[in-house]
Amino acid sequence: MNPRRWIVAAAVAIATVATLNTLPATAGRPYDPTDQSLRNLGLRHNLYIGTAVDMAALNDPAEPTYRKIVESEFSTVTAENVMKWESLEPTRGVYNWGPADELVDFARRHDQRVRGHVLVWQNQLPKWLTDGVADGSIGKAELRDLLRRHITDVVTHFKGKIWQWDVVNEAVSDPWDTPSTLHYKGFWAEHLGPGYLADAFRWARAADPKALLFYNDYNIEAFGSGNPADDKTQFVYDMVKDLLARGVPVDGVGSQGHLGTQYGNFDTLQVAAALRKFAGLGLSTALTEVDVRSEMTDGVRAGNPNEINPRLQASAANFSILLQACLAERHCLSYTVWGFTDKHSWVPGTFPTEGLASIYDENYQPKRAYNVMRADLIYAGPPYVLPRVAPRPRR
Ligand code: G3I
Repeated sequence: MNPRRWIVAAAVAIATVATLNTLPATAGRPYDPTDQSLRNLGLRHNLYIGTAVDMAALNDPAEPTYRKIVESEFSTVTAENVMKWESLEPTRGVYNWGPADELVDFARRHDQRVRGHVLVWQNQLPKWLTDGVADGSIGKAELRDLLRRHITDVVTHFKGKIWQWDVVNEAVSDPWDTPSTLHYKGFWAEHLGPGYLADAFRWARAADPKALLFYNDYNIEAFGSGNPADDKTQFVYDMVKDLLARGVPVDGVGSQGHLGTQYGNFDTLQVAAALRKFAGLGLSTALTEVDVRSEMTDGVRAGNPNEINPRLQASAANFSILLQACLAERHCLSYTVWGFTDKHSWVPGTFPTEGLASIYDENYQPKRAYNVMRADLIYAGPPYVLPRVAPRPRR
C-alpha cells in the first residue's frame, strides 16, 4: 500500500474506533428505536437510568406492577435498604446476604447494573454496634477494625457485581445543624475522626479493584457562596480534592438530589456547572437518589387540582433540571430515582406532611415527571449532549 493509502486507511480506522467508542453501551441490551422506556432512551447517551428497590415490594405477589416497572424502565438498581449494615449483619458475626444477593441476581437477569449502597453511614447501623460503642464495650481500635472488616467482607462478597459503591454517605453537616459551620458529622467522625474516610476508600479498593468508589451526599447539587463554612458543595469539593491529593482512590461523587417543590432549588446550568467542576477533579458523577417532594396541604389531600397540578408541574421541572444537567456532563454516569412510585416512597415516613415525590403515583400511573424525563432523553443529542465517558477505577 502506498503511503497515501496508509494514511487514508489509518484515518478510517481511527474514525471507526472513535465512532465505536461513542456508540451507546448496551447494559446487555441493544438500543431499540421502538422502545420508549427510560432505560432504553438512556442508552442513546450511554446514561444508566436507575431506581432504588424496596425488596419487600419487589417480592410481593400482590404487586406484579412494581416488579414489571423495575424490569422494564431501569438499567441500574440500588438496594434501598438491604445492603445497609443493620440488614447485612443484624447479629454480630452473622451475615444475612439473602435479600441483597437476590437483588444482585435480579439485576443480572434483567441486564441491569448495581449501585452498592452503602458501606459507611451513620444511620441504619446494627444495634450491637451502636450499643457496644455507647456502653464502652467496643473501644476506638476495635471499632476501626470492625469497620475495616465490614467493608472488606461486604465488598469481597459482591466483588465483580457492583458497578458503583457508595463508600461513604452523608459525612458532612448542613448549615442548619449545630454548630452551623460545616463540619464532619455523625457516628464515624465522632468516634474515629475524619480519617475514616480515607481508610474506607482504601479498604474498599483493596477488596475490589474494579468497582467505582463514590462519596455520596445530599444538598450538593449546586455551589453556593464558595465558602466551605456554609457551602456544602464547596466543602465536599475541597474534601474530595484533598483525598485525591493524598492518593485516596475516590472515583466519583454522588449527588443524591432529594429536592422539594417548596424550596427554590436550582436551574440546569447551575447543576451542570457543579457536575463539571467535580469532573474537573477527574471524578465521575451520578445523580443517585432523585425525588422531588411537595407539601401535602388539605387541598392536595382532598384532590383539589388547583393545588395538585402546580406541585406535579414543579416536581417534573426539578426531575428534568437534574436530568438535563447530568445529560450535559459526559462524566455523569447514571441518574437514579429513590423509588419510582408514591406507593412505596420513604418521604411520608420521614416527612409526614409531604409526599408526591416520585415519577409514578400510588396506582403506578406515570406522572408528568416521567414523561418529562423521557422527553429530555429523546430530545438530547450532539453537540451539547454526548455519550458518557467510561472511567477507569483509581488505584
Ligand atoms: O426494618 C424495619 C422493619 O422490621 C419494620 O417492620 C418496619 C416498620 O416501620 O420498619 C423497618 O425499618 C425501616 C426501614 O426503612 C426499612 O423499611 C425504618 O423504620 C425506616 O426508617 C427506614 O427508612 C429508610 C431510611 O433511609 C432510613 O434512614 C428508607 O426506607 C430509605 O429510603 C432511606 O434512604 C436514605 C438513603 O439510604 C440515604 N440518603 C437518604 C435516603 C432517604 O432518607
